[in-house]
Amino acid sequence: MSERINVNGVIGPPDRASISPLDRGFLYGDGVYETLRTYGGRPFLLREHIDRLRRSAERLDIPYDRAPVDIGTEILRTLADTGEAEAAVRVVLTRGPGPIGYDPEPCGPPTVVIYARPCPEIPDSWLREGVDVAIVDVTRNAPGALDPAIKSSNLLNNFLAWREARRLGAYEPILLNASGRLAEGATSNVFVVRKDRLSTPALEEGLLEGITRGAVLALARRDGIETAEEALGPDDLRQADEAFLTGTLKGVLPVRRCDGWPIRHGRPGAITLRILGLFRALAQAEAKAGSAPGSILR
Ligand code: PDD
Repeated sequence: MSERINVNGVIGPPDRASISPLDRGFLYGDGVYETLRTYGGRPFLLREHIDRLRRSAERLDIPYDRAPVDIGTEILRTLADTGEAEAAVRVVLTRGPGPIGYDPEPCGPPTVVIYARPCPEIPDSWLREGVDVAIVDVTRNAPGALDPAIKSSNLLNNFLAWREARRLGAYEPILLNASGRLAEGATSNVFVVRKDRLSTPALEEGLLEGITRGAVLALARRDGIETAEEALGPDDLRQADEAFLTGTLKGVLPVRRCDGWPIRHGRPGAITLRILGLFRALAQAEAKAGSAPGSILR
């Protein structure tokens, strides 16, 4: 499969793509983005991703409707150009070019960049054994600052958390909110199982409303698993019976250790395995041509 970048409707190889150095996305991280992937060559939960992109843009007053191209159409066009294998797609919408200074009035039109590349594979051993996470000192942005509910391109805080996790030898950092409760990973949401009950931090804790998170909650409820969106402390994760991460490129990924302590003897537990199976079945069903995108969740 070949990598392709689409800039405002013009598709080509990555080394040909360019945006203005005065683009606000470049200058200020003044943009929003989505990461989606294909299953069976079809973009998974495309409608949900486009809706979230529009909501993120609206929260920052980036005029989604003034984008020079139709984003859904361009995602499909870019994918068609890449070949057969499963793709990961990053869609970036910025406020566009403008003069230095914060005034958004003279800026625009918005810039649309769509980058399609082979989907990174999750090694089987990570699914069998789980990955290690660490609760890091870098805190999640408070919702009163840059609200984590906005999927913005301003990602330095996430990078700082990721860097700390790598120094600690962990795969994914878990960020706490300013009150010291669990928020989310740098690129994932976090779930714990305690006494057969599946919980994840409530949206009010300050986090991105992950599309995989939503799918997992819906699948679990439908399957009769008790679920909760609630406030959770660091020890709820460290002492959980089971834990897993969710995200577009990670899918459902079991957690093996938190801060070096094994979660349930270091093996993915029964509810995690059940959720993994349900999620796989959803991805397979959505991959089949003919089923309306996202229909299984509605
Ligand atoms: N990130 N929380 C954060 C901070 C994220 O960046 C992501 C996804 C998630 C999971 O959301 P979803 O299930 O919709 O992918 C939660 C993407 C994959 C990224 O940054 O590329």
